[in-house]
Amino acid sequence: MILPVYLYGQPVLRKVAENVPNDYPELKQLVANMFETMYKAEGVGLAAPQVGLSLQLLVIDADELKQDYPECKGFKRVMINPIFLEKSEETVALEEGCLSLPGIHEKVARSVRIRVRYWDENWEEHEESVEGFAARVVQHECEHLGGHVFIDNISAIRRQLNKSKLNNIIKGTARCSYRAKAVGK
Ligand code: NI
Repeated sequence: MILPVYLYGQPVLRKVAENVPNDYPELKQLVANMFETMYKAEGVGLAAPQVGLSLQLLVIDADELKQDYPECKGFKRVMINPIFLEKSEETVALEEGCLSLPGIHEKVARSVRIRVRYWDENWEEHEESVEGFAARVVQHECEHLGGHVFIDNISAIRRQLNKSKLNNIIKGTARCSYRAKAVGK
């Protein structure tokens, strides 16, 4: 089932998400719905707050980026209650977008290597080192779980330059090719 994507301005995107309890009902169905929603919207990652659920849960499938970023090949993950164990000091700035901020693309500096612990939808625990663009996607999605969005990282000047676009997203008048839920609509 395709879920509406909550857009910038929605309070759920600003909450620190709750841990997912291991008896969470119909977790696998929710994960399937999140993947379906993400693919339909042509995204490579989606965090639960973006579908209105304040939960420490995210899905990623970055495989389509493999031409430009070979490390993304087959990088499909479900991450529940993720924790960063390491983030490299070394960072790189590259352009990002977000399904909750249609039409906005800005460069963000992210660690080039991370180590993350998480559980999957079968409640198996994983510890994994991730690098390059795949590490960027994980960091972007985990940021949602902390109540942040990627433009929180850009300069005040860059944010000012995006102000009218941001206002349109809030009002629900921004162009968006997928089912979305703006505050103003
Ligand atoms: Ni995002």
